[in-house]
Amino acid sequence: MADYKDKVRKLLAEKDSPPLCCLHSFGCQQNVSDGEKILGMLCEMGYGVTDDINSADLIIYNTCAVRENAELKIYGLIGNLKHLKENNTELIIGVCGCMAQQEQVVEKIRKTYKQVDLIFGTFAVQELPRLLYEVLTERKTAVDITEYSGVISEEIQPVRSGNIKASVPIMYGCNNFCSYCIVPYVRGRERSREPEAVLNEVRELAAAGYKEIMLLGQNVNSYGKNLDTPMTFAELLRRINEIDGDFKVRFMSPHPKDATKELIDAIIECDKVCKHMHLPLQSGSDRILEAMNRRYTAEKYMSIVDYARSRIPDFSFSTDIIVGFPNETEEDFAATLEIMRRVKYDNIFSFIYSKRTGTKAALMEDKTSDEDKSRRMRELLELQREISTEHFKRFVGRTLTVLFDAETKNEGIYSGKSDEFIIVEAKADPSVIGQRKQVKITKAFNWALQGEIIN
Ligand code: 5AD
Ligand code: SF4
Repeated sequence: MADYKDKVRKLLAEKDSPPLCCLHSFGCQQNVSDGEKILGMLCEMGYGVTDDINSADLIIYNTCAVRENAELKIYGLIGNLKHLKENNTELIIGVCGCMAQQEQVVEKIRKTYKQVDLIFGTFAVQELPRLLYEVLTERKTAVDITEYSGVISEEIQPVRSGNIKASVPIMYGCNNFCSYCIVPYVRGRERSREPEAVLNEVRELAAAGYKEIMLLGQNVNSYGKNLDTPMTFAELLRRINEIDGDFKVRFMSPHPKDATKELIDAIIECDKVCKHMHLPLQSGSDRILEAMNRRYTAEKYMSIVDYARSRIPDFSFSTDIIVGFPNETEEDFAATLEIMRRVKYDNIFSFIYSKRTGTKAALMEDKTSDEDKSRRMRELLELQREISTEHFKRFVGRTLTVLFDAETKNEGIYSGKSDEFIIVEAKADPSVIGQRKQVKITKAFNWALQGEIIN
């Protein structure tokens, strides 16, 4: 890789002015994290960075394939680049990420979107210098969707998008094959990073002053099973907790089937780990959970929630829910609403089921109408609004720890996330950005809290 990086660097140095690249990452945080590595390589090779496609010499879309509408949006964006390419034949257009790991997508791009010069899948991130060199020297379309083994190279230094929060991948891939999900097909089997590599990265980030570290993986609590010296995710959390620094830790996403008391105990006992868990439910119906191949029941899910709340009554949960999985009945849907009422999530991410070619669920006959699916989605959102309105009230009068990271559109009002992962707004001055403050909550909305900074 180093060879090709040097070769590209030399080629770019010959240009009249330093070239600019524009990278857009879509989808989950894992993809955003891959994007940071891609940007790291591009900068090393001599590219400057711009957000504006019109002034870029290289445009890369780092794509998401998890739902059909994500893919349609990307096709639209690639289509829109045609005129840019016509006006500037030197422009290089790349497509990478989860869409680019699927053969039928790559075929379609090559046939329909001739303006694309570079296609590489999730396994080939470290191959970018070679591919770029091929495009620059041979002006041909370079494609690499090989399923390389191993993790993304440890040598690549990411270029991070901010200096307050950072993501650290701890594992790649997924072994679960939930029947609706394309991820195991585009990101391969689980591979964990060595604990020392993770710990070193966290140490560096803590030393650099990052205030929040998000550990990433498709199934974080399956971390470490395939290491030469296995280590559980709970142990990894405890090791990270020992690192010096003024930072907190979050993680995304654990799988309910692998959630153990040991994990909850570690979260509770580690002072740097936020007492919040994003625990994807997907459905509250055992029948649907089985058809989804989730390998837990609603009661097993509730036992995790109940255990966490028995130790910390305010332990916060958020979740992902799929509405309208093939043949979801009104009863199945009612079971999902029932779990929502029992858990009282602080936040949910809900998706209408999207058929993904190549998955098991794509072969299932589906008699549920689109109207029913949309109606259920509206009902679910309505219920969540009621739950959060009611549930957020518990914080009024109490003091929460909030990491501020943005100014709102109202001048002088800043926002951040509490340790519970709830949006909190308060009056402050710009120096509050990047600071963790104690905020006394004065008002609850259904989407956020408002308060006053007390110190
Ligand atoms: N249709 C709808 N939602 C999906 N997700 C994954 N695959 C699909 C699909 N085919 C959702 C799940 C997952 C989140 C990241 O995306 O809820 O947890
Ligand atoms: Fe997809 Fe299931 Fe793996 Fe999550 S655990 S990435 S939903 S297959």
